[in-house]
Amino acid sequence: MSSPTPKKVLVAVAWPYASGPRHIGHVAGFGVPSDVFARYHRLRGNDVLMVSGTDEHGTPVMVSSDQAGVTPRETADTYNKLIREDLRDLGLTYDLFTRTTTQNHARVTQDLFRTLCERGYIIEKSQLVAFSPTTGQTLPDRYIEGTCPVCGFESARGDQCDNCGNLLDPVELINPRSKLNGETPDFRETNHLFLDLPAFAEQLSEWIEKQKHWRPNVRNFSLRYVQDLRPRPITRDLDWGVRIPVEPYASDDTKRIYVWFDAVIGYLSAAIEWAHTRNEPDAWREWWQNDDACHFYFMGKDNITFHTVIWPSMLLGYGAGGEYGAGRGQLQLPHDVVASEFLTMEGKQFSTSRSVVIYVRDFLNRYDADALRFYITAAGPETQDSDFTWAEFVRRNNDELVAAWGNLVNRTLTNAFKNFAEVPRPGELTADDTGLLERVAAGFDRMGGLIESSKFKAALNDALALAREVNQYLSEEAPWAKLENDRERAGTILYTALRAIDSLKILMTPFMPHSSQRLHELLGYEGWIAGPLEFREVEEDDGFTHTVLTGDYDAWIGRWEPSELPPGQRLLEPEQLFTKLDPETVVAEEIARLEAAAQTA
Ligand code: MF3
Ligand code: ZN
Repeated sequence: MSSPTPKKVLVAVAWPYASGPRHIGHVAGFGVPSDVFARYHRLRGNDVLMVSGTDEHGTPVMVSSDQAGVTPRETADTYNKLIREDLRDLGLTYDLFTRTTTQNHARVTQDLFRTLCERGYIIEKSQLVAFSPTTGQTLPDRYIEGTCPVCGFESARGDQCDNCGNLLDPVELINPRSKLNGETPDFRETNHLFLDLPAFAEQLSEWIEKQKHWRPNVRNFSLRYVQDLRPRPITRDLDWGVRIPVEPYASDDTKRIYVWFDAVIGYLSAAIEWAHTRNEPDAWREWWQNDDACHFYFMGKDNITFHTVIWPSMLLGYGAGGEYGAGRGQLQLPHDVVASEFLTMEGKQFSTSRSVVIYVRDFLNRYDADALRFYITAAGPETQDSDFTWAEFVRRNNDELVAAWGNLVNRTLTNAFKNFAEVPRPGELTADDTGLLERVAAGFDRMGGLIESSKFKAALNDALALAREVNQYLSEEAPWAKLENDRERAGTILYTALRAIDSLKILMTPFMPHSSQRLHELLGYEGWIAGPLEFREVEEDDGFTHTVLTGDYDAWIGRWEPSELPPGQRLLEPEQLFTKLDPETVVAEEIARLEAAAQTA
């Protein structure tokens, strides 16, 4: 088999707000799907660059720091650390997970802003902005709540409605009220800079029209949005954000760039930062200024228009750049925008302010990362909203993960280890043996195709179906019954099953990397199939340092190919890959958690 030339794949993952701990709905939206995709492409031999970081500017972080009585900087520091630890423990293999408060990010953001301005895509308009009648303080987007003019949802935020996903402006809200003290705001005219979206309307609709491979919800929502484009304000009356690089705004200390404008630029600035940390300052261009590179974005559905309309407009307007573009080619547009639907809990949408949520940390304190990754892929909101219940989590864990995959591994390894202590040397393979191995081998292309088109649930089901086939093969062939009279045949069967499992180990790696690594070791291999992740310190010119999540993924030895398990390889003493859960204990632990949370609230 000739291997195709590696492709440059950018995996661009939505940046979580550093405004609080992230819950399992967040990582179901952007986290697990993007990592499944990135790990698969790396195993396949492609050159993946997976970037993201914490989104630290603007009112999401300011509102949270007001509530806690600390500065936005402290809030951002606290949650950047917490979130990156969550993501590491979930095993999300970012090439760089950084933050938006770096010097590098500000520079890149200002370069895009300035260039769009010079090219006439940023226009000045006066706008009605909310003020507090009692304190005179400005109340930008998230400081205001009210009723959504589109769907009637009563707790819409000033910037976006959580219910219907439409982007809003505080002035559009019905019954607007201040989040700080509930009062009705006054509105006054002030000048702001706007991104001239109508200038891109035609190009955008033609481009989106052609994206037949997008999920229908993403394409339809975006097509509707571009039918009625208005200029969007990209500056705000606040002092926590990237400084506006054009006068007179540059000298006005009360205005900053809008958080969403700087956050989407993070995909580019993080690639640039990554190249710097590798001492190859131009390496990012291979992903961004290369027509053969392919960009995939992952997010929850409330982020769609920012990625299909606003960010593409910014990229089109920037053209070949600015300082960073340096005339060396257009920046790539998204190839696919993979948006998940919402994860609800017992029927309620996860929203940190409104209902009982399950934080990633709470989950990982009690259960394995792979159990959560499995649940999210098998039962998460891939193409429709889905409801998390503890009962369903236990059922999927016990009846699918443990029953189909964990038990297969366990009984095969136990039999082989006890009776051979190594991978048995097979006699001649029968048609049943080779048939099984061929069916497992065929899984690589089929599952690969599914993962490439973001059908993660279907891919995982495919792997589980193969595991069930191997289970059935084992039960029918019953090697344990042949040990005494036909030891060679027993060895051949176990060899066949071990090879099937060794292949399944790779097929499962994108979904459940930790248990696959453990299995890899139990099978007597050394090295990392796919890992490890690590934190590194980055120091910038201004002397500030920050910690990034990264890893040396080029050193992975895993390949998206059927097993060639060597006979005679020593096996380790088997252990269970997964934990079977007791439904009553799970419920009791959850009640204890809720009680503890109620005490501290
Ligand atoms: N912080 C935003 C959210 O949590 C997502 C930002 S994604 C990026 O909804 F495009 F801005 F990076
Ligand atoms: Zn709405």
